[in-house]
Amino acid sequence: MQRRTVHALLLTGLVGMTAACFDPVHEDAVAALGGEQNGVHPGPTHRPGQPCLTCHGGHGPGSPEFAIAGTIFATRGSTEPLPGAIVVLTDSAKVTRQVRANQVGNFYIRRDEWDPTFPIFVELQYPGLPQEPMNTPVNGNGGCASCHRGGGDSSHMPGVYMSEQ
Ligand code: HEC
Ligand code: HEC
Repeated sequence: MQRRTVHALLLTGLVGMTAACFDPVHEDAVAALGGEQNGVHPGPTHRPGQPCLTCHGGHGPGSPEFAIAGTIFATRGSTEPLPGAIVVLTDSAKVTRQVRANQVGNFYIRRDEWDPTFPIFVELQYPGLPQEPMNTPVNGNGGCASCHRGGGDSSHMPGVYMSEQ
């Protein structure tokens, strides 16, 4: 057994991480997201705009594992969430799920509730506004923020938004 593995096992024991093995790339991706915001506990309203699946994708440190997760914003490029937005997801087996954004715009579906067949078609709905579909289906990864990053990160496209303004 290599030294690094031993170290990782020790760490796993000490901090109770769920990751089965130490993956430096994964650990770096998690670390780059920083700590929790002041006063927000890990839970449904934490880290809006961040890539939920980096931590809830099955390799920890977040649990449970999500199949789909993200954050909905009111307008293009804004940091204002859109609570109550409905995300309609239809997978390649024609199974449809709807999930509602919570008070910070976050939404998620646990993998033990739905293990969708990719690619997935996505549409946003909100009472009184025209539907906002994503024209191309999402493939491979149900974490919206792997492409749409909320919070003004210039190296990604803007967070998922309901209307242009
Ligand atoms: C940097 C890592 C990280 C990111 C990014 C992250 N989470 Fe978490 N999340 C955690 C950890 C750690 C916990 C606590 C897990 C535990 O208690 O076992 C947690 C807990 C949760 C819980 C509570 C689960 C439960 O059953 O108690 C929910 C819900 C949740 N996160 C949703 C989200 C959503 C939605 C996003 C994206 C907007 C997100 N998380 C992004 C690490 C993360
Ligand atoms: C692989 C990258 C990628 C992923 C992952 C992704 N999108 Fe998109 N999304 C795009 C691109 C590119 C566009 C613009 C072109 C288009 O509409 O197809 C877009 C546009 C959209 C739009 C229309 C404009 C807007 O931002 O409101 C919606 C709604 C949307 N995506 C929702 C989602 C949701 C919800 C998820 C997660 C379930 C998601 N997307 C995951 C790349 C992605």
